[in-house]
Amino acid sequence: MRRATVTRFGPAADVVEVGDYSPGALEAGEVAVRMTAASINPSDLVTIAGAYPSRTPLPLVPGFEGVGRVIETGPGVDIVSIGDRVVPIGSSGAWQQVKTTAARWCFRVLPELTDEQAALSYINPLTAFRMVEDFVNPRGVPTVAVNAAGSAIAGMVARLLHQRGVPPVALVRGAVDRESTSGPEWAAVLDTRKPDWEQELVHVTDGGPEVAFDAIGGEDGTRLVSTLRHGGSLVHYGLLSGRPLPATLRQQRPDVQIHFYRLRDWVHSAGYVDLQDGLDTAGRLVLDGTAVSRLRQTFPLEEVHAALCAAQERGGQGKVLLLP
Ligand SMILES: NC(=O)c1ccc[n+]([C@@H]2O[C@H](COP(=O)([O-])OP(=O)(O)OC[C@H]3O[C@@H](n4cnc5c(N)ncnc54)[C@H](OP(=O)(O)O)[C@@H]3O)[C@@H](O)[C@H]2O)c1
Repeated sequence: MRRATVTRFGPAADVVEVGDYSPGALEAGEVAVRMTAASINPSDLVTIAGAYPSRTPLPLVPGFEGVGRVIETGPGVDIVSIGDRVVPIGSSGAWQQVKTTAARWCFRVLPELTDEQAALSYINPLTAFRMVEDFVNPRGVPTVAVNAAGSAIAGMVARLLHQRGVPPVALVRGAVDRESTSGPEWAAVLDTRKPDWEQELVHVTDGGPEVAFDAIGGEDGTRLVSTLRHGGSLVHYGLLSGRPLPATLRQQRPDVQIHFYRLRDWVHSAGYVDLQDGLDTAGRLVLDGTAVSRLRQTFPLEEVHAALCAAQERGGQGKVLLLP
């Protein structure tokens, strides 16, 4: 069998290697899943870079999202059966031909989803859905801004909000006429390279957004907080800049709420039925186009370096999949 591994932290294209391995015998409660498609997400890249060393033992088999079929079940497994198409979650390891994992972390996939859709139907769709449920819906019809708006998840958040009558303002670094932010789901598109984008955002939202989604952190996230209207909320869910929000931010804006959102916290606190329900909801949102990801390219596992380079190119061209 072949799999990708990381034995030292660093830039993914430098440290990911493909090699042979033999999946061991299954223990009680475990299944073997023959992976057929796996995504490359920013969360994979930052983990490989060493952002969470205390919870990332090496060697690491990367890949937090992917789909495959159960080919073997260990003693005591009754949640899934051989032949089931599942998304194994709760751990990395999607970038390999056979993932051995606990059956209770395997969830059936809607039959209508293709493997390519299923491999992109968990992390971003479920996060977008949960964040909108938790932070926007309780506020009725707030004004919303979303940075890194060309990202896959930002598009999902925008389409969910548009369906609720709340098209958000898109913040992008660079050209405002890109395809990913040209749809009716966006109320306006602002370029954060312009020095006065904060004033523009306050203007177009008639006093500042009530809710702002930040996937960047660092200076971009800090400037976004400065635009929030009194009583507003920042939902910080990504670290694309590689820099955290400053610890002093709450003192600077004591009148706003700052939430740190991680899907994994919800996933590790939810039960099996709620997780299956969440994944089914996410799958339906993929099928109806709300949480669909643009697919840029697929690569065999052996070409993981080319895949990683493609995944890190700028310009919002869509997602890259590995086909193990
Ligand atoms: N908290 C959670 O549970 C959770 C769950 C899902 C996703 N996320 C986070 O959501 C973010 C987006 O994920 P994705 O899969 O949607 O990404 P993606 O589709 O791969 O897109 C990445 C986007 O980020 C932009 N970008 C990258 N670095 C940037 C920077 N320093 N400043 C501004 N923009 C930058 C790129 O802009 P260009 O187009 O200009 O290159 C591109 O549009 C990631 O940080 C990810 O970790 C978090």
